[in-house]
Amino acid sequence: MMKPIRLLVLGTGGMANNHVMHFSTISDVQVVAAVDVDIATVRAFATRHGIPNTFTSLDEAIAWGEFDAVTNVTPDRIHYPTTLQLLAAGKHVMCEKPLAESYAKADEMATVAEASGLVNMVNLTYRNVAEVQKARQMVIGGDIGRVRHIEASYLQSWLVSKAWGDWATESQWLWRLSTKHGSNGVLGDVGIHILDFAGYGAATDIDHIFARLKTFEKAPGNKIGEYDLDANDSFTMTTEFTNGAMGVIHASRWATGHLNELRLRVHGDKGALEVIHTLEGSSLRACLNEDVETALWREIEVDPVETNYQKFIAAIRSGNTLQEPGFRHAANLQKILDLAMITEVERRELAV
Ligand SMILES: NC(=O)c1ccc[n+]([C@@H]2O[C@H](COP(=O)([O-])OP(=O)(O)OC[C@H]3O[C@@H](n4cnc5c(N)ncnc54)[C@H](O)[C@@H]3O)[C@@H](O)[C@H]2O)c1
Repeated sequence: MMKPIRLLVLGTGGMANNHVMHFSTISDVQVVAAVDVDIATVRAFATRHGIPNTFTSLDEAIAWGEFDAVTNVTPDRIHYPTTLQLLAAGKHVMCEKPLAESYAKADEMATVAEASGLVNMVNLTYRNVAEVQKARQMVIGGDIGRVRHIEASYLQSWLVSKAWGDWATESQWLWRLSTKHGSNGVLGDVGIHILDFAGYGAATDIDHIFARLKTFEKAPGNKIGEYDLDANDSFTMTTEFTNGAMGVIHASRWATGHLNELRLRVHGDKGALEVIHTLEGSSLRACLNEDVETALWREIEVDPVETNYQKFIAAIRSGNTLQEPGFRHAANLQKILDLAMITEVERRELAV
């Protein structure tokens, strides 16, 4: 009988519920403790999920020490200091995206993780979409020929609806609109997801970008309480990829009619693929071979894939510190996000 992996949850807000739900389905994992700076939040969370130990600071939890691995589900700007502290304490870390608010910090986290010999993963959730993994395999397998054109979007509408809650009154949305609260807006929040979705699904990397970012007026003086609503809420990006393809990537929180939709279209000289992922489910369609003549698209069936949560536990078990998506990959994506902000100011294309 293997010893169970003892997992600590750091940050017990909205997304942490998802983490515990997934980790609880893995047989050799025990969620042993939860940490949040807000005592009421951590206690309610521990009660809801049957977690035996709670702490209101990471220092206390590390002093206690009875855990092997951590899932870091704190707000973006807290990832950097807490993850470095955890690596120093010898704990494996799965960190939420974005790894940090800047490439400099993300790069340092990746460098420290590489030297530590510990498992380090970033929760790029849409790797769990089987359809995007299948699309990647098909591109690599040559099914669509040479890739020429890529189109990817991440559309949300929480600024124009209350489907996810009221952004104007709830702190969990307000911090995402404020740079001083560590947010790089829609670019930092879901830009990293769609850059990964596009590059992973199309089996290529981005090598040139030019982005425009926009923050729309949302409240009198663009301020609510302590929150300056200055973080971008729409971006558009033109890209060139290392395989020579051209592309367009965009995201918005103003995408009325789309609660949470990722779409990737990859066009090659022999065929094309389209992946759509929404809260209702995912699909993969392809136009291949003789269907190219009539532009006929067919649904492709896919097998289930391992989730990031399962991969994290398997990597700890096997000692695979190179499990993807890792910190280095997330840092490389962060570099593109940082460059996007520079291109907005300089209004010119930059090489990655
Ligand atoms: N992968 C995904 O699809 C996905 C989806 C949603 C959110 N996220 C990411 O997950 C992270 C958390 O997002 P959320 O929506 O759960 O936010 P949230 O605001 O609901 O929860 C964050 C929690 O962290 C706590 N916290 C703050 N500082 C802390 C500290 N120093 N130590 C311990 N706890 C601390 C807060 O009190 C809060 O309870 C963010 O980085 C976000 O980008 C990822």
